[in-house]
Amino acid sequence: MDFENKKVLITGGTRGIGRCMVAELARAGASHIAVIARDKKMLKQLAAAHPEVSFMRIVGDVAHSEVLREAAARIEDEWGHLDLLINNAGILSAGPLEELPDEELYDQVAVNLTAVLLLTKYCVPLLKASKEGAILNISSGLGLLGQPFYAVYGSTKAALKQFTDCMRRELAPYRIHVACAYPTATDTDMMKKFVGREMESPESVAKRSLQGVLQKELHIVFGGEEREAHVKLNFEAPGKFDAIAAAHYEKRRDSSAGHKAL
Ligand SMILES: NC(=O)c1ccc[n+]([C@@H]2O[C@H](COP(=O)([O-])OP(=O)(O)OC[C@H]3O[C@@H](n4cnc5c(N)ncnc54)[C@H](OP(=O)(O)O)[C@@H]3O)[C@@H](O)[C@H]2O)c1
Repeated sequence: MDFENKKVLITGGTRGIGRCMVAELARAGASHIAVIARDKKMLKQLAAAHPEVSFMRIVGDVAHSEVLREAAARIEDEWGHLDLLINNAGILSAGPLEELPDEELYDQVAVNLTAVLLLTKYCVPLLKASKEGAILNISSGLGLLGQPFYAVYGSTKAALKQFTDCMRRELAPYRIHVACAYPTATDTDMMKKFVGREMESPESVAKRSLQGVLQKELHIVFGGEEREAHVKLNFEAPGKFDAIAAAHYEKRRDSSAGHKAL
């Protein structure tokens, strides 16, 4: 697979990792890119930055199912099929669970999980019409390792791992590849209210995630050997990972305080 002349739908392609994926896809020759995001001005700016690409700008909130249904219907009418779906849009609200406003709990589930399930559902017929379709879900390192103060965000992101495996196996007869990326802390608007820690660049996360799709990787895990070792330890001996989490408890409580990107 390559991205030359491909038709792509991405949620949240106007900022951060999504915007870098759009730039990377444009460089790699994608001919049509549909982007769903709430900010109309940012969508217009994105299209203007890539005049070589035929853009479909979809202004709307992925938490509203009609936005997703209409996006799929427009793609069917105007393109006839879809080669790559990237479920990237995400929001975050950290903090102790008992202090999290109910609305922010529901919103994280709606944007990070329900929208991914629904948009994928609406796009499956379009992907089946592609010669070689693919889906890329953007999860998070917090979806692989459950950390204190990120219970809701982490749960929505962990669900994407399971959804990825289920759908890859369900769609295997149709030659649709399904992959999931798990970025670590990345320098985007989402991390503006997060205190401390070195971050990856959104450009490198975008590039590596798309390479993973081309190479038919299943789970694209960021964070190097230490992250891989922690994931293994957490699976095989979660109690041992509890001890590591306990050692960082105060630091994580302080760094997550006020960490919101909604
Ligand atoms: N940054 C990190 O450290 C990090 C680490 C691990 C995983 N991730 C994941 O990577 C993905 C991208 O994150 P990012 O850091 O690039 O985020 P970001 O800089 O905050 O950008 C989020 C993008 O999603 C769109 N979006 C957000 N809510 C939306 C909604 N309800 N409906 C439609 N579009 C919406 C935003 O556009 P509008 O605001 O205009 O709607 C924007 O284009 C997310 O799924 C995030 O959870 C990020």
